[in-house]
Amino acid sequence: MAPISTRLVAVAVLSLWSCLTASAQSDTLVFKSGLSDYKLASHNNAPDIWVDSADFKGIRRAAGDLALDFGRVVGINGTVRLVDDSDIPSSPPSLIIAGAIGKSALIDDLVSAGKLKVSDIEGKWEAYTTAFVKSPLKGVPWALVVAGSDQRGTIFGLYDISEQIGVSPWYWWADVPPKRKINIWVQEKRKIQGSPSVKYRGFFINDEAPALTSWAEPRFKRTANGRPFTAEFYKLIFELCLRLRANYIWPAMWGSMFYVDSPENGPNADDYGVVIGTSHHEPMARAETEQQQKLEGPWDWIGNKKNITEFFREGAERAKDYDTLYTMGMRGAGDVESPTLTFESLEEILKVQQTILKDVMNVSDIGDVPQTWVLYKEVGRYYQAGMEVPDTVTLLWTDDNAGNLLRTPFINETDREAGAGVYYHFDYVGAPRSYKWINTIQLVKTWEQMHLAYEKGAREIWIANVGDLKPLEIPMTHFLDMAYDMSKHTTPDSTTEWIKRWAIREFGKPSIAEKTAQILNTYGKLIVRRKYELLSRQPFAYSVANYDEAERVIEEWSDLLDLAQGVYNGLPQETRTPFFEMVLHPVLAGKTVVELYIKTALNSWYYSQRRTSTDRLAKDVNDLFAQDAEITERYHSLEDGKWDPILNQTHIGYTFWNEPPANTMPNVSYHTTKNVPRSGIMGVSVQGSSKSSPGDPAPTLLPVDPYMPPSERRYLDIFTRDNGTFSYKITANTSYVTVSNSKGTLTAPGEKSDIRSRISVDWSRAPKGLSWVGLKVAAANGQATTAVLPVNKTSVPGKFHGYVESGGVVSIEAEHYADAEKKSGLSYTTVPHYGRTLSGVKLWPVTADSQTPSSAPKLTYSFHTFNSCNSARVMVFLGATLNHDPSRPLKYAFSIDGGDAVTVQPVPNTPMGSVPDGWEDAVIPGGWTSISTVKLSSGSHKLSLWLLEPGVIVQKLVIDVGGFKESSLGPLESYKI
Ligand SMILES: *[C@@H]1O[C@H](CO)[C@@H](O)[C@H](O)[C@H]1NC(C)=O
Ligand SMILES: *[C@@H]1O[C@H](CO)[C@@H](O)[C@H](O)[C@H]1NC(C)=O
Ligand SMILES: *[C@@H]1O[C@H](CO)[C@@H](O)[C@H](O)[C@H]1NC(C)=O
Repeated sequence: MAPISTRLVAVAVLSLWSCLTASAQSDTLVFKSGLSDYKLASHNNAPDIWVDSADFKGIRRAAGDLALDFGRVVGINGTVRLVDDSDIPSSPPSLIIAGAIGKSALIDDLVSAGKLKVSDIEGKWEAYTTAFVKSPLKGVPWALVVAGSDQRGTIFGLYDISEQIGVSPWYWWADVPPKRKINIWVQEKRKIQGSPSVKYRGFFINDEAPALTSWAEPRFKRTANGRPFTAEFYKLIFELCLRLRANYIWPAMWGSMFYVDSPENGPNADDYGVVIGTSHHEPMARAETEQQQKLEGPWDWIGNKKNITEFFREGAERAKDYDTLYTMGMRGAGDVESPTLTFESLEEILKVQQTILKDVMNVSDIGDVPQTWVLYKEVGRYYQAGMEVPDTVTLLWTDDNAGNLLRTPFINETDREAGAGVYYHFDYVGAPRSYKWINTIQLVKTWEQMHLAYEKGAREIWIANVGDLKPLEIPMTHFLDMAYDMSKHTTPDSTTEWIKRWAIREFGKPSIAEKTAQILNTYGKLIVRRKYELLSRQPFAYSVANYDEAERVIEEWSDLLDLAQGVYNGLPQETRTPFFEMVLHPVLAGKTVVELYIKTALNSWYYSQRRTSTDRLAKDVNDLFAQDAEITERYHSLEDGKWDPILNQTHIGYTFWNEPPANTMPNVSYHTTKNVPRSGIMGVSVQGSSKSSPGDPAPTLLPVDPYMPPSERRYLDIFTRDNGTFSYKITANTSYVTVSNSKGTLTAPGEKSDIRSRISVDWSRAPKGLSWVGLKVAAANGQATTAVLPVNKTSVPGKFHGYVESGGVVSIEAEHYADAEKKSGLSYTTVPHYGRTLSGVKLWPVTADSQTPSSAPKLTYSFHTFNSCNSARVMVFLGATLNHDPSRPLKYAFSIDGGDAVTVQPVPNTPMGSVPDGWEDAVIPGGWTSISTVKLSSGSHKLSLWLLEPGVIVQKLVIDVGGFKESSLGPLESYKI
């Protein structure tokens, strides 16, 4: 035992040490004695926070939050004092001074006295510095000073202290417990935080019924309009927004009117310092419901110009005193395309809107009013048709509602005054299926697309649709953290690093960071393959017949659940709640739903094999359906029902794009004594076949060879087809093939009704070439069947290194190349955990120009085939990315054995505002599969691959020489020698 415990201690010390060094670099506060003499807070003291009484309201308010945060952490609230020059309070035991440069005399005096350096942030957007200052004022020995370049810069500086002392931005919305401290000291340091990477960063509360709406209804006193999204609701939202270092919100709009429902909403947002916008179809700071309720006449520019102009003006008049980012342009009534708008009329609308804004805001330069035009759906077509959009309007590009960017800025668009941005989805109502239930986001996919967007110059606005907000905490935080500081997200492994930092912040234990990253990365991989709502679609997502795909997918989910449950079990009670909400719940609930559908598919398969265990699977499906409801109840019972019923979104039994009214059990089959000819109690089936023998013809197993993928299995299943008991025995007609469970007794009903017999081959004794082995399965009652096993002893000649064909395919994960060139500053990078199986490989940097096979670096894959094939298929499994630069569609090229390079464009061209042909087939399984046909001789080969655009991401390559079988994820990775 001794060596084991010694090692454990060493590991613990190491992780503590790395945690301390990691935080010491950027943080101004420490929690251990001996590192600083300046105690800011302890269990019997919390600091005064002085704010100039003339400073921004938002700073005064956020200082109050920080004061309470000290109470949350040390047990004593801080005290906010509004100070004016004539009346400086007496010196408290410890002091924080906070304010905006140019607005706070407290700060400006420190600057002019040479005590505080602000030159590196002054005049910048939302920057701040936090500094230890000696003798800041007469009689005050020292203070921690937070100086912002503007209102929000200062607020972010205050919340940075909150976060450092242990209050998560999610302390309320995800129940992350504040991390208690005994003592808090200030280091003699200065922290400089420059402007955020993206100027306007925020989220859109959308598709908020039934979940968020029915949660809010009993909790917030309804507005005059009967709506639950009241001033009290939005105060919680504004605080969250700022604590997440975001600054911009599109408010809830399904039947709600932000400015009308609660007239305090507009002024409150402004007091907090949050910028309000409206969604893509709600121009001029007015909600869609206002278009229906407040506009005289139809929402149709051509037919109702005068009244709509007035409607626009009222919107601007109402919002003019608040920090507002105006959505411009127009769409049809009710979030759809307008039947009458043309690009000429849209140009006119923009002119009218700008004239109104200039007039109402009383500015000489319209560029001083933040405006955006969202090129969502059909709107992009007007732009492509040549519509002039003033330079002072930010072009807000969008994804395809499924996380794949439709467009990034062209180089000739990057010098537009108001720049460009992205509207991105983590939740969606629409085809192919709405996804509104729980988190279905692969974080590294978000990174890949948003990093690209950023590098291409979309830096003015990032806004994410977060649905009901609540189960999307993680993708939302990740997105906003990137937008705040892209310098921490420049490399493909930055997402994993981010998850670790995030896990430590929320759950406090450095020791779980690695595992949390593993959980979220694996979850991303499993969910990107198919969203829950799409699992009811036929044909079923995962193949029961081929590659044991369906069974393997359940196993992956089970392993993931074990991992997540293990971490949960090791956490103290108080962090279990947020861990459950954000990490364990999606894994548990997700696994339950996936297993429900897979067992439904297996139930139908077993039914055709006439197994009595069909009924057990039917029961499992029923149980899983019940468990799904219990898991929802478990979530709803957290924190004494704080979140009830926020997860009441239906999610099982979708039959078309929109949600079913209630979760619905899938149809399951039952093994009945009546209808099925059984041919006796014993049944034998082989992998990949829905038949069973005796009765059906004697089965032939899938072939075996020495180069089967390491994780591939070969087996036959023996089972009961009727109630009763029988004994069986399996005998091979040769000794180089052996089977597990070669004899036994099976009984139905009961758990011991089926058994799997795995096949092993002693290749040293098997004959060369193809031979046929008989595996006789005989029951004691005289029933018998003989399964035939093709044994194919191949051998690779010479000194070949690479992947070897088995069963007519070679399958290689993209990152397992034999060689990757570097050339003219270009190289390939692996994006860990990207896509559906292992990772993705892409050209780097993402700002690279279009390439040709002669200019691009080359990836080389080495493989060996035994079969020659005149129409071999080269199958390239790609990410779901789109032609985001229509002038540079995604392309790759390949060649075999140094032959001519074949260039392939995997995603068809498409007019802007539409999705390409085949889009659903790519979006549903989470990637494009691009197929080319080549002539291939048997032997060892080199496949060269060139990715010609940085938007192309390869996940996996399959060479099909005749053996490829239908499946979602493709064959298992081949054997490598
Ligand atoms: C801090 O102040 C708040 C608001 O007044 C109060 O609810 C809370 O109990 C106080 N906390 C402590 C630790 O005194
Ligand atoms: C515009 O509003 C007026 C009332 O102010 C109304 O009489 C008129 O019908 C409206 N115009 C249209 C085209 O609906
Ligand atoms: C901007 O660049 C794109 C892509 O290269 C091109 O299609 C478009 O015509 C250019 N626009 C102008 C105004 O030059």
